[in-house]
Amino acid sequence: MEYETITLRVEAGKVGIVTLNRPKQLNALNDQLMNELGDALKQLDHDDSIGCIVLTGSEKAFAAGADIGAMAKYSFADVYKGDYITRNWEQIRSIRKPVIAAVSGFALGGGCELAMMCDFIIAADNAKFGQPEIKLGVIPGAGGTQRLPRAVGKAKAMDMALTGRMMDVTEAERAGLVSRVVPLDKLMDEALGAALSICDFSQIAVMAAKESVNRAFESGLSDGVMFERRLFHGLFATADQKEGMDAFMNKRKAGFTNS
Ligand code: HXC
Repeated sequence: MEYETITLRVEAGKVGIVTLNRPKQLNALNDQLMNELGDALKQLDHDDSIGCIVLTGSEKAFAAGADIGAMAKYSFADVYKGDYITRNWEQIRSIRKPVIAAVSGFALGGGCELAMMCDFIIAADNAKFGQPEIKLGVIPGAGGTQRLPRAVGKAKAMDMALTGRMMDVTEAERAGLVSRVVPLDKLMDEALGAALSICDFSQIAVMAAKESVNRAFESGLSDGVMFERRLFHGLFATADQKEGMDAFMNKRKAGFTNS
């Protein structure tokens, strides 16, 4: 597939970097972009040489939300029956390799929701997060009312969804929405560094860790702990567990083979 609204490149032979690329519209997310993004992510997920994915936008905007121009004319029948706008949004959840959001500038509406669908968010000091859909006469439609309270708690999630105000990066970090904040000119270095360190680990253990943390949002504590324990036990069947522990015991760097 030829991409027009995103770009895809591979760094160091192992990190897939996907950049949202509709700069004139502040990376507003239309169906074409979401189709291309889904295609790129699936392609990277299926490529054995890729260990981690970074999703980013421009300095001014990660994404300013779903494309309002495209949405404005739709009727209920269009969006319900045709599933326009929301069609491909949950695709990112099926990606089994880690996806890091490197966010600078606006992450609003669907842009904030897209960042929250990633495994964690590294933010530049100019990042701003918000769910301003209420100002347009609608509500978040890609998980914002569900993922935001899980990330920042009810008080701030309600505040954001009901007033449509933006959160700056200091507040976002304090509230637990982002994992790290860095100066704007260091954003991609930081995200790439995190991605490369993940690539050094056993891909099997990395996928298991992602699956297990995600389970925390889907199950009660005892089921989640049991799920984790079974995955933990299963990893003792891998060569990478033997290698990782032997390397520690012999004070050498582990060389994982993803087997
Ligand atoms: C379409 C958009 C857009 C959007 C910005 N643009 N956001 N186009 N959809 N979401 C366009 C503007 O129309 C403008 O085009 C150009 O990008 C630059 O934007 P400006 O407004 O001139 O920039 P600025 O003054 O810096 O303000 C930036 C902004 C503002 C604060 C981000 O653009 C804004 O409030 N955007 C809308 C944010 C929003 O409401 N997002 C939620 C969308 S609903 P022209 O042609 O005039 O230069 C949503 C639902 C998700 O996301 C559902 C998911 C399934």
